[in-house]
Amino acid sequence: HEEFTKVKNIDVIQLGPHEMHTWYFSPFPPEYNGCKKLFFCEYSLHFFKRRSQLLRHLSKCKVRHPPGEEIYRRDNVSMYEIDGRKEKAFCQNLCYLAKLFLDHKTLYYDVDLFLFYVLCETDARGAHVVGYFSKEKASEEGYNLACILALPAYQRKGYGKLLISFSYELSKLEGKVGTPERPLSDLGLVSYRGYWTRQLLPLLMEREGSVSIRELSEQTRIKVDDIMHTLTHLNLIQYQKGQHVICAPPDLLKRLLAEAGSPGLQVDPGRIVWSPYS
Ligand code: COA
Ligand code: NA
Repeated sequence: HEEFTKVKNIDVIQLGPHEMHTWYFSPFPPEYNGCKKLFFCEYSLHFFKRRSQLLRHLSKCKVRHPPGEEIYRRDNVSMYEIDGRKEKAFCQNLCYLAKLFLDHKTLYYDVDLFLFYVLCETDARGAHVVGYFSKEKASEEGYNLACILALPAYQRKGYGKLLISFSYELSKLEGKVGTPERPLSDLGLVSYRGYWTRQLLPLLMEREGSVSIRELSEQTRIKVDDIMHTLTHLNLIQYQKGQHVICAPPDLLKRLLAEAGSPGLQVDPGRIVWSPYS
């Protein structure tokens, strides 16, 4: 794709109180060419070349949260589900913003086909976007997530883990196995491997080895290939007498689980108010 070779255009963005340096090129409309800094409205994600334009917009735009349905809330953290067809402008703006931090993933500017799950931190001023993931309304390949992003100002706080868990909680509610769209970035892969490891090892510990990959997949909604990848990476799969077996002594499992890091911010599945797209 041609756009991947293009040099970075926007250097910095302002989003609420956060100034963030960008990582990659994003195909903003041509009138933004040559513009080094963009000012985003935290709530509608409209973007401007000058702060004064943003301030004028904020004086007219009274909404202080993303559009769509709030489908989850726990303490000051909320998740909004936004239909790309119904909220085109917001979702397109989100894609422009996200591409600044996403490398090889082709972003779909045809937002109609996607649902966007936008994670917010709420305070007295309003609900502030910290990250999101997108999901195809109907994925033939069984993807439960297309793009995932925690904005740099909010990275390394456990929000990526929360977004990944949330995508699997939705898969559980759908009764379907899911997997993230490929390719995964380096940061994406570490985050996923951590999640898969933290989900699978406790189940292996409970079952003391006698469990099939298929059963693990049914319980976790993690795709069989991803389970194989994770267990192979952890060196827990052995090839014996022509078949793959999980080889996992309890003390090894315990150590590997400890090394897999903290679960981060936890999703409370009971608080998700949601039904699958139809
Ligand atoms: N360096 C090393 N390890 C890192 C890391 C970094 N900069 N960022 C995340 N990790 C690893 C750590 O193991 C971390 O767990 P720990 O903090 O307990 O050690 C784990 O990933 C996830 O941590 P978390 O705080 O939940 O991640 P995050 O909120 O920063 O979000 C991403 C993770 C992938 C969503 C985020 O890095 C991101 O948006 N990256 C840019 C977009 C992208 O690459 N998306 C994936 C495309 S497929
Ligand atoms: Na991505």
